[in-house]
Amino acid sequence: MAIREIRELGDEVLTKKCKEVTKMTLRTKILINDMLDTMYEAMGVGLAAPQVGILKRIVTIDVGEGPIILINPEIVETSGEQTGEEGCLSVPGKAGLVTRPNYVKVKALNEDMEEIELEGEGLLARAFCHELDHLDGKMYVELVEGGLHDMEPYEEEV
Ligand code: NI
Repeated sequence: MAIREIRELGDEVLTKKCKEVTKMTLRTKILINDMLDTMYEAMGVGLAAPQVGILKRIVTIDVGEGPIILINPEIVETSGEQTGEEGCLSVPGKAGLVTRPNYVKVKALNEDMEEIELEGEGLLARAFCHELDHLDGKMYVELVEGGLHDMEPYEEEV
């Protein structure tokens, strides 16, 4: 268990495309556990590996329903639309309005490198989109409508 340093906007590592995970190793298992620890400690609902400086296609998410670990995730279906406040652990204290699909289905590998499919609506759908964007070096700030503002205490960072 270890908390890793969260990289912030302006760090080049957040602009890079991440590499697929081809096999599960001890090093990757440790990374995943550290990502969960780091995400919970920062009270975020999601974290992508590049946010701790590792260019691998791994994300962790917990929207209050338990931890989700996605390896090499891909969006396979979306529908609807939601516009709401979004934040990011790499842009501390800030938030902005972003429009995302309201329903997202992802396929990925789990920690045992088995194929899984997950569906999310609302915040989970938003978290899927936000975290998967990180794996391609994209930040939500590029999608914000009307500029960033200081985060309200109740808002969550993904
Ligand atoms: Ni983020």
